[in-house]
Amino acid sequence: MNKNARIYVAGHRGMVGSAIVRRLVDGGYTDILTRTHSELPLDDADLVARFFADERPECVVLAAARVGGIVANATQGGDFIRENLQIQTNVIDSAYRSGAQRLLFLGSSCIYPKFAEQPIVEEALLTGPLEETNLPYAVAKIAGKTMCDAYAQQFGFKAFTVMPSNVFGVGDNFHPEHSHVVAGMMRRFHEAKVESHDKVVVWGTGSPMRELIDADDLADGCVFLLENYDGGGMINVGSGEEISIRELALLMKTVVGFEGDVEFDASRPDGTPRKIMDNSKLLALGWRPKFTIEAGLRKMYEWFVSGEHIRGA
Ligand SMILES: NC(=O)c1ccc[n+]([C@@H]2O[C@H](COP(=O)([O-])OP(=O)(O)OC[C@H]3O[C@@H](n4cnc5c(N)ncnc54)[C@H](OP(=O)(O)O)[C@@H]3O)[C@@H](O)[C@H]2O)c1
Repeated sequence: MNKNARIYVAGHRGMVGSAIVRRLVDGGYTDILTRTHSELPLDDADLVARFFADERPECVVLAAARVGGIVANATQGGDFIRENLQIQTNVIDSAYRSGAQRLLFLGSSCIYPKFAEQPIVEEALLTGPLEETNLPYAVAKIAGKTMCDAYAQQFGFKAFTVMPSNVFGVGDNFHPEHSHVVAGMMRRFHEAKVESHDKVVVWGTGSPMRELIDADDLADGCVFLLENYDGGGMINVGSGEEISIRELALLMKTVVGFEGDVEFDASRPDGTPRKIMDNSKLLALGWRPKFTIEAGLRKMYEWFVSGEHIRGA
């Protein structure tokens, strides 16, 4: 990809989008186009079409989406499916019509079947029932991935999908109800430290295994693919590093500097026992992650205590 290429990063204030912008800037890209949600609501087809016709980006990274945890998905399923379908449809179609050369669509590992064999290969998509708790979100993402494939096939539009595993890092959401596992745990350990609690209770037995990828590694993988991958379809981007919830909690205690105990409440649900993606396609292209989970957590905690996550909110 030419360093002067005009690259539009949709969702540049989110965790993934902001990491991609940092990575592009570090990589010497000079023409990065961004719009905030209020400047350009991507669910508005007319505004999006006008924006693309005016700006004509060569490359588009679609990291804007309505994302949320189990509660948000359960209570706002209608919004999740409508807004994500609209954002994707508007951006993918307008990018193609305005002459973009390449589009990277951010998928999610939650769109793979609930009982997919581990590690999950790309071919597992649509081979079994989905997890019910985030069905509207997952179905929208599957539609986005399918739209990329269909536009590639019918119109020769070079759109492809990146499937990240669980992402954590700088820019994460620490909201008590909407955060993912790492940010939620970091917040609770930090509060326990500041408020001198004698213990932190973690839900479940601690045995589930999770693959985690640092947002800066995911961004690096995305830019690597834009630079080195010319194909379509979808590619898993994971770190290959798995950690149990128990190990994560103990590591978090160390990173945060909490001196109390960690207890596991086995009466609470554990969730999926293991979730890891098969990274072989990406590794075969020569990409490797840079951050271990511990290094990523330390970087994230430094950013958290700097207060940036509050000022940027
Ligand atoms: N986080 C993960 O663990 C994870 C894992 C797998 C895949 N992904 C995928 O990666 C992508 C980015 O995720 P993320 O974690 O970076 O999410 P995020 O932090 O919530 O960022 C999403 C961004 O999209 C923007 N946005 C939402 N609705 C919009 C709209 N209608 N118009 C314009 N902008 C809109 C948001 O702006 P406002 O905040 O102003 O609304 C925000 O900047 C998503 O597609 C997600 O599915 C994330």
